[in-house]
Amino acid sequence: MVYFALKYLHLIGATVLLGTGAGIAFFMLMAHRTGEAVQIAAVARIVVVADFLFTATAVVEQPITGIALAWHVGYSLTDGWIVLSILLYIVTGCFWLPVVWMQLRMRDLAEAAASKGLTLPLAYHRLFWAWFAFGFPAFAAVLGILWLMITRPAFRFFL
Ligand code: HEM
Repeated sequence: MVYFALKYLHLIGATVLLGTGAGIAFFMLMAHRTGEAVQIAAVARIVVVADFLFTATAVVEQPITGIALAWHVGYSLTDGWIVLSILLYIVTGCFWLPVVWMQLRMRDLAEAAASKGLTLPLAYHRLFWAWFAFGFPAFAAVLGILWLMITRPAFRFFL
């Protein structure tokens, strides 16, 4: 029963991570494509809240339920697929944390432009392209983890 409860939570975390990540990227991209500071500010405001509410919760929950599962099932944390997953998780974090900051800045810049009736500043456009570029490795690493979780390939980093 404990095993299924842990796995259930772990899978909810996985779907939230992938779903929120893809959803946020899509809505931000669509808002950006309008070129309208008012729309971008509105979407970025929601995206920032969604990232703190859903992604951040799942980011914390995922390794906790994952390590608890490994312990419960009897996997060693030095198994290759677990080590590689944790490394990829760190890679994701290294790209996701700056993305959170970029979203905050893009929201503020879009709000400032909207309130003054100005066009989006160059700083916004620079941030948008950095945000766009950072999303790919972050999302690819999560997809890699998903593959490792499902296939659990047998290899070791350590003897
Ligand atoms: C960050 C550290 C993580 C650790 C230590 C970890 C650990 C584990 C373990 C030990 C299992 C096997 C459970 C079993 O045998 O029933 C598992 C399953 C699973 N994990 Fe993770 N996990 C982590 C992150 C993630 C992430 C980020 C995702 C996806 C975004 C994910 C998705 C899954 C899925 C879908 C399964 C079920 C696979 C299946 O039953 O075929 N995990 N995880």
